[in-house]
Amino acid sequence: MDMLIVEGGRRLSGRVRVHGSKNATLPVMAASLAVDGPVTLNNVPALVDVITMAQLLRSLGASVSGTAGCVKINSQHVEGVVAEYDLVRQMRAGVCVLGPLLARFGSARVSLPGGCNIGHRPIDLHLRGLAALGADIRINGGYVVAEAGTLRGAELHLEGPHGSSVTATCNVMTAAALAHGRTIVHCAAKEPEVASLAAFLNRLGADIDGAGTSTIEITGVEHLHGGSQTIVPDRIEAATLAIAAAITRSEIEIEEAPVDHLVSVISKLREIGVDVKVTGRLMNVNADQTLRPIDVTALPYPGIPTDTQAQFMALLATIPGTSVITDSVFPDRFMHASELLRMGAKLQRAGDSTVVEGVNSLSGAPLMACDLRASAAMLLAAIAADGESQIRRVYHLDRGYVRLEQKLNQIGARIRRCNEAHTLHRHVS
Ligand code: EPZ
Repeated sequence: MDMLIVEGGRRLSGRVRVHGSKNATLPVMAASLAVDGPVTLNNVPALVDVITMAQLLRSLGASVSGTAGCVKINSQHVEGVVAEYDLVRQMRAGVCVLGPLLARFGSARVSLPGGCNIGHRPIDLHLRGLAALGADIRINGGYVVAEAGTLRGAELHLEGPHGSSVTATCNVMTAAALAHGRTIVHCAAKEPEVASLAAFLNRLGADIDGAGTSTIEITGVEHLHGGSQTIVPDRIEAATLAIAAAITRSEIEIEEAPVDHLVSVISKLREIGVDVKVTGRLMNVNADQTLRPIDVTALPYPGIPTDTQAQFMALLATIPGTSVITDSVFPDRFMHASELLRMGAKLQRAGDSTVVEGVNSLSGAPLMACDLRASAAMLLAAIAADGESQIRRVYHLDRGYVRLEQKLNQIGARIRRCNEAHTLHRHVS
């Protein structure tokens, strides 16, 4: 298993480029199962989750070539409708194959995704939406078993206790694209990943209107033909890089930043005192001044993304004064707090929030990554901290960032990747 050894306390400077978005890629790959022709995806990030999704599609009979940059998927010969536990448990986005399989083949058997360390993650909204389109759904042996002679358009709501659901909206929208008649989805998720999936499906012959707003109207079509899509740049990676500049009080430039998708993040950084200038898709982030504590609440889009909440916590832990962080999307997504405490952060859980008393500096420490964005927060804290940190279990980071440590090294960080077992052996012998 790889680990990262980080020498903290170095300023960053220079330019980095943002990769394609993981969370835009995975639903589009899954939706390719509903397509009766070859699909070409460009700007696909080389990530573990993308490889896992490719394996899942292959296990169903699709051909998938390439895993980064340009990925070609052909689902013309897909016959399987069973998404096995061994693949779906590795990546929750595996549940995105449910809608496409059901729409194209009239049945699907998809393992329930495993437990997750960012809190409770039910899939009731996925099931409710597909049932409204006429699917008969039951849970059997840890699998969702869905059958539908014919899916029929319907008017449905996808609101849950913490807002809508991104992947449920993707599942239902793809199924409705091939249903008979018209579907209206109320309380749909408005995240850019939903809009980019709709753009992909429309290019392939679907008739979807309103994706990116809370009401989506879909008129079902007979079939989806082959086509291509360029994956949008990753808004969460761009935000993580911007916060890297802020936490190290540095100035960097971020190329290919999807600035339209980052309005709340940019405005929060500006409130903190970070100077953010935007020119087209280039973001200049300058934090070479005194920063202010602030309250941050993660909300559904267009609010501050829950996927940046941990990184904001790392940043605010280094800004003297009191900040309060709340996550309205995943209220228990605070696993990173215990690792930040080990670096000298002052954090106190208070109900649904975490109160941060910023300190002048964090100190390097041995750390254990516990989920994707938590690992990013640890890496950011480590590059800003005094002294050395070792971050274990970085496979969490690799699920969602393309060699983030190389990107940070490119702009002045000092991070080494090494094999945990070798390092342990060196220490013991
Ligand atoms: C997507 O997950 C992202 N994953 C997550 O990114 C992201 O954190 C999340 O959306 C919120 O933005 C992908 O796109 C692959 P949700 P998803 O369903 O769709 C509740 C990352 O780090 N809910 O929108 O699974 C749920 O518990 C990952 O890149 C229900 O109640 O999240 C949560 O409180 C982690 N019932 C809220 O809705 C359901 O059926 C939003 O979850 C589904 C969800």
